[in-house]
Amino acid sequence: MRENPIGVFDSGVGGLCVLEKCIATMPNERFIYLADSANMPYGVKTAAEIKRAATDCVRELAAMNCKAVLVACNTATAVAIDDVRRMYPSMTVVGLEPAVKPCLRELGRNGYAVALVTSATYGSDKFKRLTAACGGRIIGSEQPLLAGFIEDNAGDFDALRPFVFDMLSKYGDAEAIVLGCSHYSHVSGLIREFYGGNIKIYDGADGAVNRLAYCLSAADIRAPENQIGSVRFYSTYKSA
Ligand code: DGL
Repeated sequence: MRENPIGVFDSGVGGLCVLEKCIATMPNERFIYLADSANMPYGVKTAAEIKRAATDCVRELAAMNCKAVLVACNTATAVAIDDVRRMYPSMTVVGLEPAVKPCLRELGRNGYAVALVTSATYGSDKFKRLTAACGGRIIGSEQPLLAGFIEDNAGDFDALRPFVFDMLSKYGDAEAIVLGCSHYSHVSGLIREFYGGNIKIYDGADGAVNRLAYCLSAADIRAPENQIGSVRFYSTYKSA
């Protein structure tokens, strides 16, 4: 079991930023990255569609003998993680959540923050509960297009500068931005540029990766120290 791989999935390139952190934190592990490109974008799908897509991904990863799964997608976590856990009760399953709580803790008394999220995350009960607890100091901002643009411009994120700048123009006086979708990490440089470097950016990936490492240790299924780490990449995309 300790030698078995860890599955990491997202609808596309978003989870790669999370995978990078996994490798840095757990270099001896074998990872399988699954991009559910056939179903990208998750963020504009119905809850039923997202649940089906996410559970299908986990079924694939379980069939490849994964000892644990990291849902490297805020949307799938918000909408489908309970279903995934019900389906695989004995598997370690860790999700990605917008880092709203750490942001709130560090927010200045008069400041506010913006949590950028997909439409499906925005409409989810989990996200509503999370932001309701912030007393209006963290505003949810629904972004139906951004993840798709990021996926389509992988390799040339600078092309998204006009879109990102326009999106942020409403929030010019924000103190912090919460990246509520794993795809958005790819444009964190553009977000920082918009604010002239004067912005705090919160990414839930660090918390999720630390939690995964903790759960593996607690279950005593961390890879042996002498194991050489690796990554295998898969996509659900099928050409016509
Ligand atoms: N990367 C995903 C997230 O973290 C969703 C992107 C999408 O497929 O809409 O929410």
